[in-house]
Amino acid sequence: MQIAIATERLAGESRVAATPETVKKLVAMGHTVVVESGAGLRAAAPDAAYAEAGATLAASRAATLAGADIVLTVRPLDAEAVAELKDGAVLIGQLAPYHNDTFPLLAAKQVSAFAMELLPRTTRAQSMDVLSSQNNIAGYKAVLLATHYYPRFMPMLMTAAGTVKPARVLIMGVGVAGLQAIATAKRLGAVVEATDVRPSTKEQVESLGGKFIEVPMTEEERLANDGVYAREMSDSYKHRQAELVAKHARAADIIITTALIPGKPAPKLIAADIVAAMKPGSVIIDIAAEAGGNCELTRSGEVVVTDNGVTIVGSHNLPGMVAADASSLYAKNLLTFLSLMLGKDGFTLNLEDELLAHTLVTHAGEVRFPAANVAPAAKKETIHG
Ligand code: NAI
Repeated sequence: MQIAIATERLAGESRVAATPETVKKLVAMGHTVVVESGAGLRAAAPDAAYAEAGATLAASRAATLAGADIVLTVRPLDAEAVAELKDGAVLIGQLAPYHNDTFPLLAAKQVSAFAMELLPRTTRAQSMDVLSSQNNIAGYKAVLLATHYYPRFMPMLMTAAGTVKPARVLIMGVGVAGLQAIATAKRLGAVVEATDVRPSTKEQVESLGGKFIEVPMTEEERLANDGVYAREMSDSYKHRQAELVAKHARAADIIITTALIPGKPAPKLIAADIVAAMKPGSVIIDIAAEAGGNCELTRSGEVVVTDNGVTIVGSHNLPGMVAADASSLYAKNLLTFLSLMLGKDGFTLNLEDELLAHTLVTHAGEVRFPAANVAPAAKKETIHG
């Protein structure tokens, strides 16, 4: 098969969908890999490394995509790039299925497109889970961004000139990103508290040395949030949560928010009046900024300082700020996913494989999303925390 990797076109996207390491493996399997010149440059993978791994370098995106049987991407292709694809090609990447308007164009070209965000959360899928690999990095980088904007130390310091108190960090949303944020903040010596709607996260927070803030829940709410994805909560729950959050936010120096609900705008967890009550110098890192933000005052893609001196960071694409490792893990996720269709017998698309069936958004001239997919929140899968 001919496999292509083009330079990402979205502003600020520095990741790449295959690294010299994964290219080498694909070439060893007998495939031809074409990489657009410069595609890996911002992820510490220069053209020479791809050439050494056995890739052919192409001077333009059109030349990269022309003739490709399989195209690997980090972000969705724009309409112009879709037009450059070969009819019947396979496209694999984070295709933003809830917001992508190019699916009809892909279907018209008979493209089989796989949106990696829709991978079921099963044990078998874990090594291909791009949300895990990338959110883990987002959680880490969020804490480092916080240290950049926070005008004080994170750890407690006892010096001859006086004692510095440790920073109090509040993490809201304890999925993959939140857990990594807890671990990173703890390593830096902060005092960490965390909260989530899924009761199962309490144990995970405590095992990392954090204190769990438990919003009182009805039995019905508890059962509804028993899965791997959060549900949208009732107004009554939101009210109980807001009261508790207000109390802890006032005491916090740094808040990192990560709460997401697949296919929906991010829940608003920090209202303007909570920000107004926070201490001057405190920092909010809103990882959910790209999905609308968890804080009412977040400006997507921007850093703002409020009148009472709170810095709210709405930067996008935190994994892209750690582009080399983010690309390395992402590329390995895609390589493992590819192994579902590239076997000893060549290329096969077994739509009975649930990992392929759930992620396939366009195929044989049809748009299959969302009809062919069960809404993630409604599913109960065997998972690994
Ligand atoms: P996510 O990115 O979908 O959401 C982030 C966190 O925000 C979640 O923990 C969610 O419960 C929380 N949240 C949503 N609404 C909230 C609200 N109103 N208030 C407070 N918190 C709210 O989650 P992520 O990181 O993708 O992981 C979710 C779970 O799935 C984790 O337990 C993770 O370990 C598991 N997982 C399992 C995989 C597998 O077995 N293949 C792969 C990846 C994750």
